[in-house]
Amino acid sequence: MSHHPETIARAVGKIREATGLVPRIAIVLGSGFNHLENAVQEAVKIPYAEIPGFPVPVVPGHQGHLMMGRLEGVVVAVLSGRAHFYEGHSPQAATFSIRVMRALGADSLIVTNAAGGLNTAWKTPALMLISDHINTPGFVGVNPLVGPNDDTLGTRFPDMHDAYDPEFRKLARDTARELGIELMEGVYVMVAGPAYETPAEARFLAAGGADAVGMSTVPEVVVARHAGMRVLGISCLTNSSIASDSIDHVEVLTSVKSKIADFERLIRGVIPRMVA
Ligand code: HPA
Repeated sequence: MSHHPETIARAVGKIREATGLVPRIAIVLGSGFNHLENAVQEAVKIPYAEIPGFPVPVVPGHQGHLMMGRLEGVVVAVLSGRAHFYEGHSPQAATFSIRVMRALGADSLIVTNAAGGLNTAWKTPALMLISDHINTPGFVGVNPLVGPNDDTLGTRFPDMHDAYDPEFRKLARDTARELGIELMEGVYVMVAGPAYETPAEARFLAAGGADAVGMSTVPEVVVARHAGMRVLGISCLTNSSIASDSIDHVEVLTSVKSKIADFERLIRGVIPRMVA
């Protein structure tokens, strides 16, 4: 089912009952990144289960609630936990929250995720600014924009050049440099999961130009660009998908923890600049 303005309006109405705050930036927190929500001031917390149309995520490390409030003085909407395609949600259901964020007033989106490293010149764990993406589910027709296009939501054939806003990327690089945070920059490739990529697949994806591989984010960015939002993406490369003998979700969460302080400093540093 594609996104309907009335369904979006119902979710917006429910959120507006809880808070009149109009967010400038929506932030999707990936696996293990939820800690950032503790920094939100004047926070109003709304469980996804109470928002009509929101799919409820079930993966460990994902909480499943919306936090509205201020971060560094900027009104933000923090989506703590996301719904993934591999959980059985349609690409449309998994991206419904992005439509709701846009309708609430957010014109910018920060997406975050844990990902496997494919660039063997880099060590892990590491933080990576996303410069572009490869949508492998899209290659086989799994794209949230498949179906009739609602022109009130966006154009039929959205351009995906500079999907990751060049100005936001510069702000993130500048912020990282000033704060002494190491930040790689590269291409994120989405695989549907839930099985991790095989070593042969990892080599294939690296040869295709990807630096990081994960199971999320891309559908959200496609919808955000369709909706005219500007996007900043940050990955935490938790493991080397190429150079290690195995991949394990517990290791992924542990690695995110080791980068959480830098991640939070980076996000909190860049947010005021994104709205300046
Ligand atoms: N592959 C896919 N998704 C991931 C990985 C990986 O190696 N690490 C964290 N998320």
